[in-house]
Amino acid sequence: MAEPIEIRGFRLWPGWLDRAAQEAMVQDLRGVVAAAPLVAPVTPGGRQMSVRMTAAGRLGWVTDRRGYRYAPRHPQGMDWPPIPASVLAVWRGVTGLARDPDCCLVNFYGEGARMGLHQDKDEGDFSFPVVSISLGDEALFRLGGVDRAEGTQSLWLRSGDVLEMGGPARLAWHGVDRIRPGTSTLLPQGGRINLTLRVVA
Ligand code: SIN
Ligand code: FE2
Repeated sequence: MAEPIEIRGFRLWPGWLDRAAQEAMVQDLRGVVAAAPLVAPVTPGGRQMSVRMTAAGRLGWVTDRRGYRYAPRHPQGMDWPPIPASVLAVWRGVTGLARDPDCCLVNFYGEGARMGLHQDKDEGDFSFPVVSISLGDEALFRLGGVDRAEGTQSLWLRSGDVLEMGGPARLAWHGVDRIRPGTSTLLPQGGRINLTLRVVA
């Protein structure tokens, strides 16, 4: 696999997945969503999030009025489905780790959806990276430093790109300003899927 592009400790592999691999992964994700439907979560402060969310793996990340946390079951009570092999292959290929992730968070961005600047810090062990996979429409991703006061910069994430937040960038601030509708034909109804893979510990 080609060397990644390094941006402030983030590592980006443009086009890690070719079109056929993206299509196969979307098929696998249809199975995940059939077993554990996408929900429209609210923040602990009661704000409706614009992304829709589900998960696969031993634990899923959830948010509601009780807070942000990892939960052993979907909010509707079912078990989370297993992380598809196609997704695990990306984690193993990027990280080279023997330890598989506990959680594959599935975020769906329709037109107008965004994700405010945040740090991923609900996990118990920050020595493991977070690996993010982009599918479908392009997204304007904003990345900053570990210190919120550091400036941010933006880059477009495209279908098939893989981004790793590890080492010095593990606790870096990041978010998605917007997606660009109609920039991919991967999802017949449009939109963007982002997967984030995490060891929760
Ligand atoms: C996230 O930080 O949870 C999502 C990142 C993305 O959608 O690219
Ligand atoms: Fe995040």
